[in-house]
Amino acid sequence: MKISVIGVGYLGAVHAASMADLGHDVVGLDVDEQRIERLNQGEAPFHEPGFEEILRRGLQAQTLRFTSDYRDVADADVHFLGLGTPQRADGLGADLTYVRAAVDALIEVLSARAGAPTLVVGKSTVPVGTARLLAADLEQLDGVHLMWNPEFLREGFAVQDTLEPDRIVYGVSDPHDEQDPSAGILDEVYAPILERGTPRLVMGLEAAELVKVSANAFLATKISFINAIAELCETAGADVTDVARAIGMDDRIGKKFLRAGVGFGGGCLPKDIRAFIASAEEMGTGHSLAFLREVDAINQRRRDRVVELAQDMLGDLAGRRITVLGASFKPDSDDVRDSPALEIASRLMAAGADVRVTDPQALANAQRRIPGLVTVDDLEDALTGAELVLLLTEWREYRDLDPEHVRSLVAQPRIIDGRGVLDPADWRAAGWEVAALGRP
Ligand code: UDX
Repeated sequence: MKISVIGVGYLGAVHAASMADLGHDVVGLDVDEQRIERLNQGEAPFHEPGFEEILRRGLQAQTLRFTSDYRDVADADVHFLGLGTPQRADGLGADLTYVRAAVDALIEVLSARAGAPTLVVGKSTVPVGTARLLAADLEQLDGVHLMWNPEFLREGFAVQDTLEPDRIVYGVSDPHDEQDPSAGILDEVYAPILERGTPRLVMGLEAAELVKVSANAFLATKISFINAIAELCETAGADVTDVARAIGMDDRIGKKFLRAGVGFGGGCLPKDIRAFIASAEEMGTGHSLAFLREVDAINQRRRDRVVELAQDMLGDLAGRRITVLGASFKPDSDDVRDSPALEIASRLMAAGADVRVTDPQALANAQRRIPGLVTVDDLEDALTGAELVLLLTEWREYRDLDPEHVRSLVAQPRIIDGRGVLDPADWRAAGWEVAALGRP
């Protein structure tokens, strides 16, 4: 099928390359011309395992290309909307400017092809009610239908999550309308995935929008829940990793997303829960999601706690050499959006500390985000001379550090484990002073 993907950020770029990999003829569009150029050269604009491979495969087979010109997508049968919906500068809500602009531009090119059956499929995470408004505009054009088909991809597993999702959600204007051709068209797009037996759930537009934000709110709540327990553990002298392991064995609870630490960051969970709060308030049901404010607050408090622990261990931070292990918001990613590690590093800098940050992938992005940040590529160089080490992103190479060897590099053997991944007993036995979130 002829497909366009409008907005080729993280989600859109992966979706475009994945659709080409399924055998479709795909054009990706973005207003960022630099990004388009890089993608057309087969260069991934972000670190994502497996992405560059399918990107290059599609370019080589000439079933994938990228453009900034809407006229190049005019003849597609299916248009996916993969635009970003960042947090608004003036509040908690989602900024829908990019989605709106794309739909307006699309309406213009589609008007010229009047009558041909065309499906527009929203994938962006939007406040409930957005799709219905966009549908009202798009469906004035003869033959055009809008669906909402949220994406659940995790960074680091984006290609796998796109090509082997655990479920596919179809939001349609009227789930009981037998004449609506939309679901059938999208079935053709996803045929190879559906043939494997992937569950496909058809529902109203509003439910589909809510599925996505509810899933992210649930995940954020689960993390903040265990982090709240971690706060209690710190006072009670208990170990949160013991609590998490034991409650996680109850399969109604499940062990995933119960890792206590500096909390969640990234381009999705933080902004999605805030937008969810804002949209509930706008709908007059703010009380329903009031608890998400606390979820956000717990998450922020964990960052404060690390700075407090650093002060407990070092006293005045001015001029003290601190090494931060990790800059990305999670391992196997170069994404530093709302990264707990980076925010803690910049707070320590603001307190006058001499901070050095290392990370296997994210240093270039970290520098762009925090001008003046001192970064060190080599892990051993970064550790040399440190008076305090903070492990804030659990990259494999940091989890595997040998306490004896690291001790020979640092000036003072002090470490804060912000992700609960080191064995405190091993580190203490090697002469380290160890503090860990939620652990005695
Ligand atoms: C998330 C959702 O998982 C995904 O379904 C959605 O489409 C986009 O948002 P992502 O942002 O890639 O994906 O990261 P995820 O793996 O969910 O982790 C989010 C954050 O939570 C990270 O900062 C991670 O370090 C943190 N986290 C995760 C914890 O602090 N503890 C945990 O137990 C799990």
